[in-house]
Amino acid sequence: GNVTMRITIIGTGYVGLVTGTCLAEYGNDVLCLDVDPRKIEILKSGGIPIYEPGLEEMVKRNVEAGRLRFTTDIEESVAHGTIQFIAVGTPPDEDGSADLKYVTAAARNIGKHMTGYKVIVDKSTVPVGTADKVKAAIAEELAARDNTTSFAVVSNPEFLKEGAAVEDFMRPDRIVIGVEDDTARDLMHSIYAPFVRNHDRILYMDVRSAELTKYAANAMLATRISFMNELANLAEKLGADIEFVRKGIGSDPRIGYHFLYPGVGYGGSCFPKDVQALQRTAAEYGQNLEILNAVESVNYAQKSVLIHKIIQRYGENLKGLHFALWGLSFKPNTDDMREAPSRIVIDGLLARGATVTAYDPVAMHEAQRAIGEKTGLAYADSPKQALESADALVVVTEWKAFRSPDFDEVKTLLKQPVIFDGRNLYEPERMKAEGFEYYPIGRKQP
Ligand code: NAD
Ligand code: UDX
Repeated sequence: GNVTMRITIIGTGYVGLVTGTCLAEYGNDVLCLDVDPRKIEILKSGGIPIYEPGLEEMVKRNVEAGRLRFTTDIEESVAHGTIQFIAVGTPPDEDGSADLKYVTAAARNIGKHMTGYKVIVDKSTVPVGTADKVKAAIAEELAARDNTTSFAVVSNPEFLKEGAAVEDFMRPDRIVIGVEDDTARDLMHSIYAPFVRNHDRILYMDVRSAELTKYAANAMLATRISFMNELANLAEKLGADIEFVRKGIGSDPRIGYHFLYPGVGYGGSCFPKDVQALQRTAAEYGQNLEILNAVESVNYAQKSVLIHKIIQRYGENLKGLHFALWGLSFKPNTDDMREAPSRIVIDGLLARGATVTAYDPVAMHEAQRAIGEKTGLAYADSPKQALESADALVVVTEWKAFRSPDFDEVKTLLKQPVIFDGRNLYEPERMKAEGFEYYPIGRKQP
């Protein structure tokens, strides 16, 4: 049977809630802490504060089984878990480096209240050297109250993707554990063994390597995307088709098909900030990460690729033009608006005098919260409603619901049959046959 443990999760956001719930699923006794009383209220009343497929049912099941609880009480949370996962945010500072104030606060709280041996696990994405800082913060708090309780700090970065978070956590490609203390290693092993059939998938390493692995993974993926975006822009000029090129290179197992899709640039809560944070870390050590500088500037430019296509079609001044916009979240299956390219597209259109009616299957509420009121921007209740008397459709996020629209209907609702597609959802040949002016990313025009 599984060894079950008392686990505290500090920070009940995307990562914390998924981690806590999935650990409860295997029988552990999990208490999730957050400083945001709104989130804890929602969770206590049976809801979840984020959109994430499959998560709500799983939370419910584990709450009912008495294995998953929520609190805003710091002392209670420190007392509860032998293992304390820190899963708080690490947003970018003004200079792009990771702001560790939430991590440090969480560590200090542990140091202030702990009474017995604890393993503190850095689950948040944190720069190399953070485990040492967490250790120092806890040691300082312990010393301040003449306490000599021992503890270990472990790095266990998280690789889940929003929209597939439960699946990713329950069936991980690998689990990275940076640990230099034997007791902590054994505890981490018993926590994670149920998640992997093949124990080789648990990769033990030193703490600094584990911390760097997280940034390396996200920076590598961001690099692939920026490279594909550059190639797509080149393919367009050359009269080649990036979709053929993508398949042509993805079929090489050394390259692989994943994360080779050109588009409107990467967004989300991780890639942009993690690329920047790694650059800052390198700079602190006197190294310039030239590749990442390029990855970032290519991505910055790519977020405006649709605006450039629109300007090429209509000219700089978009006054009097009305656009339907499909897709607001930074990617499908999430309501997350952090660094969403849709925001750049909307701002670009409004700034040039156009008006926009936007629709998203899930992120409407979150978008309204994140973007706020803007003159010229309206929200629609359906994809169809967004199209009404628009001069063109702009597709920004590749939700399933947008993949096979009724093109006759789209044509009827739009004033002119024009589509700017930032995600290459449709076939140029088909669009031509349907009578559309179609502007995808990097594709050959028939
Ligand atoms: P989030 O903003 O959704 O959640 C963080 C939560 O921590 C918030 O609810 C906040 O109120 C809470 N918090 C802040 N300080 C606290 C404290 N002292 N005590 C208790 N709670 C506190 O963030 P997230 O998206 O879950 O990201 C958390 C970390 O995980 C970040 O470092 C991020 O880079 C990393 N990460 C995120 C993802 C992702 O897809 N979102 C994936 C992998 C790694
Ligand atoms: C990412 C990492 O994938 C995950 O491992 C890490 O734990 C957190 O950060 P997430 O931000 O949820 O996950 O989304 P992801 O699916 O990686 O997409 C990031 C961005 O890249 C999105 O804006 C997406 O549209 C874009 N993207 C992704 C592309 O433009 N092309 C691709 O081929 C893949």
